[in-house]
Amino acid sequence: MAFSIAIDGPAGAGKSTIARRVARQLGFIYVDTGAMYRAMAVFLLRRGISPENAEAIGKACGEADISICYQDGEQIVLLNGENVNPLLRTEQAGNMASASSVNPSVREKLVELQQKLAAKTDVVMDGRDIGTVVLRGADCKIYMTASVEVRAARRAAELLAKGEPADTAAIGRDIAARDHRDMTRETSPLRQAEDAVYLDTSDMTIEEVSDRIIAVFREKTGASQKG
Ligand code: DC
Repeated sequence: MAFSIAIDGPAGAGKSTIARRVARQLGFIYVDTGAMYRAMAVFLLRRGISPENAEAIGKACGEADISICYQDGEQIVLLNGENVNPLLRTEQAGNMASASSVNPSVREKLVELQQKLAAKTDVVMDGRDIGTVVLRGADCKIYMTASVEVRAARRAAELLAKGEPADTAAIGRDIAARDHRDMTRETSPLRQAEDAVYLDTSDMTIEEVSDRIIAVFREKTGASQKG
């Protein structure tokens, strides 16, 4: 049976950086589920479909084929065969992903894809509902968060490093709005699974967080060094 580590938490908590690192250290595959919701968002944005139009979104789900593959260990998201990775990390795609992911058709489609991936491979998967819905039986569950200020500053630094403009206050407002929507939606809201370990990373380094997760994983599974 494949091993699985589920990492959930709000936007900008550092999940992807940590999950990628933990996956590399354990020799697992990193599955970024947010990127799948972002790819669906790109499809909806291109079609000009509003997140409130449930009927059009339901239809779009049948027309958008989303799959992932790996190149040099990096996850590539294919939208109807097109590599859409360069389009996923914008604030527009993130906000649309948050708004459209409340739609049950979108969730059903992507959860199925995620469960199939984890059934056959050792994975570190991050998102909002991994420990509570997608991989309820995960070997190790982590709920990772940080203060809104720290998360906004991290996102701004990420954008600046790419040479893009960043307004930290505006990003903070977006993050707070996204937290609210992700935590209060009806279908699979973001919440800590009962058996998840809570990690506030505001004052922790990347190394400290990933070492802690690997220690929790080993403790829960008794697994020795892999990979
Ligand atoms: O982690 P992220 O910022 O790339 O995710 C973008 C949006 O996608 C997030 O605001 C909510 C949605 N999402 C979700 O509903 N469930 C997941 N497992 C992952 C992301």
